[in-house]
Order: sequence, then C-alpha cells, then structure tokens
Amino acid sequence: MKNVSIAIDGPSGAGKSTLARALAKKKGYLYIDTGAIYRTVGCYVRRCGVDPADEAAVLRLLPQAKVELRRGEDETQRMFLNGEDVSEEIRLPEVSKYASVVSAHPEVRAYLLEMQRELARNHSVVMDGRDIGTVVLPDADVKIFLTASVETRAKRRYLELSERGTPEALDQVRSEIVQRDWDDSHRAAAPLRQAEGAVAVDTTTLNFQESLAALSRVVEEALK
Ligand code: DC
Repeated sequence: MKNVSIAIDGPSGAGKSTLARALAKKKGYLYIDTGAIYRTVGCYVRRCGVDPADEAAVLRLLPQAKVELRRGEDETQRMFLNGEDVSEEIRLPEVSKYASVVSAHPEVRAYLLEMQRELARNHSVVMDGRDIGTVVLPDADVKIFLTASVETRAKRRYLELSERGTPEALDQVRSEIVQRDWDDSHRAAAPLRQAEGAVAVDTTTLNFQESLAALSRVVEEALK
C-alpha cells in the first residue's frame, strides 16, 4: 500500500508539533518534527563555538555532526547528536536562535533534505516544519498551513517554556517570535510560505480539541 504523507507548515507557536503529533497518533502514522533536525545542527554549531551566520564554517562542521532521529519508549521522537541524546538541550531558547540562523543556509537545507524525504518514502508520515509542502514533500497527499496570531502564539510559547522549567518574560517571548517569523519568512532559501494547494487553518480562537477537529476534517476531506 502506498505511504501517505501529510505536510504541516507554519510559524513557530501555531501549535504545529502538538497537533501534528496528535494527528499522527490518530491516523497511526509516524510523526516527524523537522524543526528538531535543524535544532540539532544548531546545537552542534553552538557547542563548537562557531558563529551560526558563518556559512562556510557551519558547512565544515556538518560532516562531523551525526544527526539521528530515534523513537523513545513512549514513541516520542528523540534527537541524537553523535550518539548523545540532545532532545532536551535543543529546546533551549539559545538553541532556537542557532537553529533559525543555520537553517537559512541553503547548503545546510540541502544536506538535511534527503534524510527527511527518506523518512516519508519509508513510512506514512505527518511531517511538520516550514518548507514541507513547498520543498521537502511537494507531492504530499495533504498540505496544511497552520497559523495563529502573534499574541496567541507568544502566550502559548510562554506557557510551554514555563512548564518546561526554562521561563522567559512574555515580552521577550513575543519579540523573539516576531523576529523568528521575519527571519524564517524572509530568508532566500526555502522561506516560510503557504504551499500551493495547502489549506490554511487558523487556530487563534481554537483550543486544542477544536484545532485537532479542524485539522482532521481537512485531512479526511483531502484523503477521500
Ligand atoms: O519548528 P522549530 O521552532 O522547532 O524550528 C526551529 C528552526 O528551524 C526555525 O527557526 C526554522 C527552522 N526550520 C526550517 O527552516 N525548516 C523546517 N522544515 C523546520 C524548521
């Protein structure tokens, strides 16, 4: 049977990972968080003390960074860097900045592209990121562009960081989101934008269950 692919793109804090994970569980598909792959590269660059904006220096580091995606006991996605589990470290706000900067380099994106495509060839997937419907899986069976207002996304991220034990002030979180939106959507390489054929789902006024229901409706309609 043909593998099914569901591509979910959108800015940070729109609820992509929580919703994509829940959707994957519901469908029995593999959930792939592609942001975590860029975060793992960002984490390595940071550990090496290299300026993430220095493309040549970052490229020199890539062959030394073995980035692996493994399943945890509870089926969650764990990220390994040269054999070490860095799943917690990659969520630090400083690593977010490194991930955003390294992800703007076209050769970094090219380096990570095949890894993402191979996962979708071998499994039915719900894959989330910024360029899944536009670049990684342009022939995805379902494409969704998930959005929410800046204020809503900032509040969600603020709560997430607090719960994770790495709190930040709301103003700070908001300005980081605005900056990252700008960087992700204005970079030359695979900028964040709604893919052709993608259905936009705005979760600003929706809670988790309502968002999941909206997403599921789009998926069932597209897979009919
Ligand atoms: O979704 P996230 O916040 O974990 O992503 C971290 C960074 O990686 C984000 O700044 C944008 C980048 N990214 C990307 O460029 N392409 C993807 N498919 C996923 C993430």
